[in-house]
Amino acid sequence: MRKPVMAGNWKMYKTPAETIAFFEKFRPLVEKASHCEIVICPPFTNLAVAVGAAQGTPIRVGAQNIGWAREGAFTGEISGPMLNAVGATHVIVGHSERRQYFGETDATVLKRTQAALEFGLTPIVCVGEMKEEREGGRTEAVLVSQFEGGIAPLTAAQFARIVIAYEPVWAIGTGLTATPEIAADAHRVIRAQVREKFGREGGDAVRILYGGSVKPDNVKSLMAQPEIDGSLVGGASLDAASFASIVNF
Ligand code: PGA
Repeated sequence: MRKPVMAGNWKMYKTPAETIAFFEKFRPLVEKASHCEIVICPPFTNLAVAVGAAQGTPIRVGAQNIGWAREGAFTGEISGPMLNAVGATHVIVGHSERRQYFGETDATVLKRTQAALEFGLTPIVCVGEMKEEREGGRTEAVLVSQFEGGIAPLTAAQFARIVIAYEPVWAIGTGLTATPEIAADAHRVIRAQVREKFGREGGDAVRILYGGSVKPDNVKSLMAQPEIDGSLVGGASLDAASFASIVNF
């Protein structure tokens, strides 16, 4: 059995004060949630505050990106040891917004994933096709090539520590959720790739999350798909009550 992961991606939202206010409301609402792992990924500037606010709870805190070097002349980057030092345990890598707007490629996704692993963080590695790619019948080819470039070069031991997130770009922030069946089909494509590269065991063990307009009212039907091992939630993770109802699906 794969333990679900419910992760909130706050993107470029919230100040430290707003982070504290969120946790005050959120903590009691998820007190009994032992059925899944809960991860909140706020902007870098709120990581320390979030870790403090989550103390004494099973809630984990993750970053939204990681530099691939230990340290150095890399303006604007944040390294694994820096994330360790503030108590982050997870990191989102290769989010489609980074791929679309900030030049992230499969090659840099791989480097960042390897850095996360080197520094003991759990990478949540994102893949997913754009609208035109789906409409052009290229979804499977895109998922395969993102897997090949960004994930397949990991060693089996490295691979065993990652979480994958399938996020169709056309469903992110648009209110257009993939139907549970569409999502599950894409998850099957990814899991088949995993099995081919890392064997049946690797394929059975890896958690594949779905992301893209996950809301309190659609999470149950998504999570009813055995292929879907959790969700990566953007907009609906910003509100404590809404994200708690997703966690408590
Ligand atoms: P959304 O974002 O839930 O707002 O669609 C998901 C994501 O980008 O991780």
